[in-house]
Amino acid sequence: MADDPASAFDMLAADVRWSTFSGDERGKVDGFVRRWRIKPGERVLEPGCGSGRLTDILAAQCGPAGKVMAFDASPRLVRLAQARGLPPHVTLRIANAETVQLAPASFDHIVCFNVFPHLVPQEPIACRLAASLRRGGSFWIAHTRSRIDVNALHRRGPAFMNGHILPTPRKLELLLRRAGLEDIEIEDGADRFMARALRSAPASPSGANGHA
Ligand SMILES: C[S@@+](CC[C@H](N)C(=O)[O-])C[C@H]1O[C@@H](n2cnc3c(N)ncnc32)[C@H](O)[C@@H]1O
Repeated sequence: MADDPASAFDMLAADVRWSTFSGDERGKVDGFVRRWRIKPGERVLEPGCGSGRLTDILAAQCGPAGKVMAFDASPRLVRLAQARGLPPHVTLRIANAETVQLAPASFDHIVCFNVFPHLVPQEPIACRLAASLRRGGSFWIAHTRSRIDVNALHRRGPAFMNGHILPTPRKLELLLRRAGLEDIEIEDGADRFMARALRSAPASPSGANGHA
């Protein structure tokens, strides 16, 4: 069904390219991981984890004292992730980003890897995901292709994903700000894309920036 990511993305389960990283992709992922600076003991949310090919890497970064909650709308992809035998500090869920239950301020990082364009409607979903970050926590968007290539791929892909577009840096920055994020850095590269934004403190009535 076109508007249901659960069934729409089930097809990726049969495509081995979504289960492993090519050498080129792995080099880019290693670069992203260095930028994410996930520390032992930190809590990581991975929306749209697919077959879990990144989840294992995130789990290694935060270590057994940390936790990774990874979810995906596609039951077939989550089953593939489950079959990887990921460590016990990883929780896998079948869930849609529009409705997944997330406790406020419960994560240090959110990693949207090759998924942000699909999280439609993007602004309300970014807003609800961002609410699950602690103040100062990082929201990451990363792609192993350029923005132009990602969008071209989606435009010529199945009809349901033709409108799943990675916004221009200017539009993305506005979207992330409206989602309660700040200190935004966007790298719109020739062969990759990465954005980082930090969860801002809610405005206090006095205008002071009260940290818990
Ligand atoms: C291009 S795949 C990337 C998967 C994974 N991040 C990777 O790089 O291997 C996009 C994933 O996002 C998932 N997805 C799309 N829309 C979603 C939504 N609204 N909620 C949860 N998952 C979603 C799809 O099921 C699919 O697994």
